[in-house]
Amino acid sequence: MSIFELPIKDELKDTSMKLKNRYTITAALPYTNGPIHIGHLAGVYVPADIFSRYLRQKDKDVAFICGSDEHGVAIPMRAKKEGKEPQAIIDTYDKMIRESFERFGITFDNYSRTSRAIHHETASEFFKELHEKGVFEEQVSEQLYDEQAQQFLADRFVTGTCPKCESPEAYGDQCEKCGTSLNATDLINPTSTLSGSKPSLKKTKHWFLPLNNFEGFLKDWILEEHKEDWKPNVYGQCKSWIDDGLKPRAVTRDLDWGIPVPAQYEGTQKVLYVWFEAPIGYISSTKEWAEREGKDWQPYWKDEKTELVHFIGKDNIVFHCIIFPSILKAKGDYILPTQVPANEFLNLEGQKLSTSKNWAVWLHEYLEEFEGMQDVLRYALTANAPETKDNDFTWKDFQARNNNELVAIFGNFVNRVVVLMHKYYDGSVPEVQELNAHELEILAQLKDFPSKIESSLNRYRFREALGELMNLARFGNKYLADAEPWKRIKTEPDQVAQIMYTAIQIVGALAVLSEPFLPFTSAKLKGILGLEHTQIHWNEVAQESQLIKSGTRLNENQLLFRKIEDSEIEKQLEKLNNTKLENASEQNQTAIAEIKPTIKFDDFSKLDLRVGHIISAEKMPKADKLLVLQVDLGIEKRTVVSGIAQHFEPSEIVGKQVTLVANLAPRKLRGVESQGMILMTENAKGELVFVNPDQDDIPAGSDIT
Ligand code: MF3
Ligand code: ZN
Repeated sequence: MSIFELPIKDELKDTSMKLKNRYTITAALPYTNGPIHIGHLAGVYVPADIFSRYLRQKDKDVAFICGSDEHGVAIPMRAKKEGKEPQAIIDTYDKMIRESFERFGITFDNYSRTSRAIHHETASEFFKELHEKGVFEEQVSEQLYDEQAQQFLADRFVTGTCPKCESPEAYGDQCEKCGTSLNATDLINPTSTLSGSKPSLKKTKHWFLPLNNFEGFLKDWILEEHKEDWKPNVYGQCKSWIDDGLKPRAVTRDLDWGIPVPAQYEGTQKVLYVWFEAPIGYISSTKEWAEREGKDWQPYWKDEKTELVHFIGKDNIVFHCIIFPSILKAKGDYILPTQVPANEFLNLEGQKLSTSKNWAVWLHEYLEEFEGMQDVLRYALTANAPETKDNDFTWKDFQARNNNELVAIFGNFVNRVVVLMHKYYDGSVPEVQELNAHELEILAQLKDFPSKIESSLNRYRFREALGELMNLARFGNKYLADAEPWKRIKTEPDQVAQIMYTAIQIVGALAVLSEPFLPFTSAKLKGILGLEHTQIHWNEVAQESQLIKSGTRLNENQLLFRKIEDSEIEKQLEKLNNTKLENASEQNQTAIAEIKPTIKFDDFSKLDLRVGHIISAEKMPKADKLLVLQVDLGIEKRTVVSGIAQHFEPSEIVGKQVTLVANLAPRKLRGVESQGMILMTENAKGELVFVNPDQDDIPAGSDIT
């Protein structure tokens, strides 16, 4: 068979048919209260970008939409913490986040901000229309109020115990431990995060979205229609929400940061609840894009033939599957999401990622420390994506994925082919008239890869799709290793020409098919293949018999990946370790007790504090916390029972200088009279430390005044 007659693959036609022609793809709008980290990238932005790039490769009409989420309480809280204005906070982080996305090759068609006029208008319109239609219920309810800060408390302004799982760290909008979405008034023992005080209840009037009225719609649409095609984690969360019974949710807040409610009650300052307006930001951002591009935005949100896909993390499921669709439904003539491929969480070295605890790999730092290695992170995060369960990012795994997979398989294969091509043919792809059966078989197998990758991508299985791409590199590596052209170049030049021709087709396929996953590598590879200016289409990999034509001149070779040394990984682990230590010491600082009520000087002067020396120490029998010490006070010796046995070995404290409260009334502990008390404090690591003058020449018995 001639190489020009390879059959077109049937499966490819099949999977292509499943795709619609127009896609609106949204990625959760990041809060501009901090930079973004690997968890965001892995959970939302990399899969969304892979999907968008893939669809563009398939000639689909794609609007890939995102922007900054700049309202909500997180912003003024961060501002307060940093002693800045909210505006300064959103400007700083919006810029930082934008830059990170751009440098990681996230190809948003538009990245807007919810602080822009277009969004304020769009969100206000939504509210007004729903208000006029009578969709909202007005309710006077009792809300938590901080008397000290003179402010109502909701969402992140209040913490307390989760009524469901009893975690003591639940927020007023959600318990991060069990994922339950909460109203602030549901919390047990609420505390204001503004002042630390116990809030009181105060009446206030708000507009509510009566989710209970949408139950029938949600049951039909999610529980029936999407039973089969939504991810089990997403479907399961929705089902449990619906089964628990939906309640009205306030869509306004008593706050001064946000979009003012268009229909104000007299004398009140209310804004739209951030989770009411932020998802509408997808629409505002689409409008902004369409205006710039001279397009009509409406088909992207209103045409039944458009596929609307929300990429989010699992903590956003209820907002995107229950609340936002109910808003769209109430508004009318909007389409609903066809897919919400929410991911689970990514942990870092076994611990939950946390912005406030600085437990993260920040993208702006990664970009500095691993310059030009964006694809490596994209690769590691996709290969280990938390698609079906929470996953762990470890630096060791990152190194192994790079060294054992990208370098040893992908890079090695490409490098060998390009080097040999230059060596044997001066860099130009050899002419071949006919191919052996084996080479034809290899090329036929090569043409199966696009449909394998597509079939995974169409089902939102990005790890699996990436695995297929790597299988293609493995396939090439094995083919070349088995064919051993370097042993045959002298004796069988015709065979070697066929081998090298076949091998470069695999390299060409890698260049095209890697584009959604590893865009920088793909571009480099296209450069090496001299294809910067010729567009090779994704479909051609399966359909074209000559992907890389004979006579194509290759450019100079470049290494696609470099090895990551142990020292680089150790440096990262050390950095994380420092974060741990800092957090531990901060925790101790926050545990610092309040100053006690004032006392008179007379009260103080009643205290007799003395410098003493420990002359002996032994364990109190049958008491694992107590040591019995003899303390030399110069004029006399004292027996002191001290609860420090779990912190010190008796032998290590003999000879220590201590401070003793010498006139404390004696008391008996386990039958031993304790005649005084030794002063202690804790260091940053939470270890006990003796309080003493720290000078050797102070005689025992010296008084402290
Ligand atoms: N800012 C939210 C978060 O980071 C996501 C908002 S998504 C949107 O969890 F739909 F509201 F825009
Ligand atoms: Zn909980």
